[in-house]
Amino acid sequence: MKKNITDVKFKGLKVILRCDFNVPIKDGVITDDTRIKSSLETIEFLMYGGAKIIILSHLGRVKEEADKLKYSLLPVSKRLSELLNREVVFVPYTRGNEVETAVNNMKNGDIVMLENTRFEDLDGKKESGNDLELAKYWASLGDLFVNDAFGTMHRSHASNVGIASLLPSAIGFLVKKEVDEISSALNNPRRPLVVMLGGAKVSDKIGVIENALKIADYVLIGGAMPYTFYKALGYNVGGSLVDDASIDFCKRVYEENKSKIILPTDVVVASSMTNEANTRLTSVNMINNNEIGVDVGVATLSEYKRILSSANTIIWNGPFGVFEIPKFSNGTRKIVEMLSLSKAKMIIGGGDSIAALNQFGFNNKNAHVSTGGGASLEMLEGKELPGLSVISDV
Ligand code: 3PG
Repeated sequence: MKKNITDVKFKGLKVILRCDFNVPIKDGVITDDTRIKSSLETIEFLMYGGAKIIILSHLGRVKEEADKLKYSLLPVSKRLSELLNREVVFVPYTRGNEVETAVNNMKNGDIVMLENTRFEDLDGKKESGNDLELAKYWASLGDLFVNDAFGTMHRSHASNVGIASLLPSAIGFLVKKEVDEISSALNNPRRPLVVMLGGAKVSDKIGVIENALKIADYVLIGGAMPYTFYKALGYNVGGSLVDDASIDFCKRVYEENKSKIILPTDVVVASSMTNEANTRLTSVNMINNNEIGVDVGVATLSEYKRILSSANTIIWNGPFGVFEIPKFSNGTRKIVEMLSLSKAKMIIGGGDSIAALNQFGFNNKNAHVSTGGGASLEMLEGKELPGLSVISDV
């Protein structure tokens, strides 16, 4: 078991806390602060326990100087300060005199946040390339490292793996909760376990589909991915999205797992990807050349209902339809309604799946909605998370 924040003494110590505050920001305004709220428990525990907290986070992908304007963490520090009702000292640098002075002036319970760790990527990808000299610099600012950035656990960067290799380290409450919830659904599920995998390209999900087929009782394939399976089975899919590179894979896994893989049997097809398109419901083997598959049909939804209502564990990652376009959103809305009523333990991850939950008013206390899309997907693939492996065991 990994060392967590309750296993370490930190009163009076400088604690470097890695959070994932990679939140959506539009015109300087945070449009979803879930990730900030999700780390409050760890921050308050450290704060009331008398630590001096130095927060590091990335925001966006910083590729050129101009990105610095849209990816400053200043709005995040302000929001955190509001949520905590405490001062959060923001230092607009990632290293240097200002950083060191702010850190040296800290008293127990104080919070300092440094600028976006990925600003260091402008100088030879030092953060994303896990540069040792950078990791040593950040490590030199503190006595202890706490990683609460679940969304970044699948990355091996200087601000997570780098610092953790150099300082005594532990995980925060958010990482512990995410890892415990997801691991227990994967390794010790109450059966039947149903895994719902959506998305556009099969090639992005090959590892996940293979692992899901090993652990689950049913694997529902949704979004655009079924059309690659249909093409592999010899059906005409019209203008639907097909990932030609994955046809052989689809043919093989379908042959080997016919009773486990659940593909839609009827779909809604459209004349174009717009809300003004003509649509019709069709069986999957009767799609015309000029038609695009955009949603699941009624027969498929009743089959989903039958399978999901018997499930005791459900894992969902990836969109099941083009729900952003109202005319194509019926299937996703019905799926979200089914999940809202479910008594199963649920793990839901991925930005689009969570957007669907929000759009259709999902509410179910049995659900664990993950803050990490990529990280939860890698766990689903059966991979180890580098940010977690590097933390020592109790
Ligand atoms: C995420 O939003 O998935 C995490 O913050 C990781 O971001 P990244 O994919 O840019 O590394």
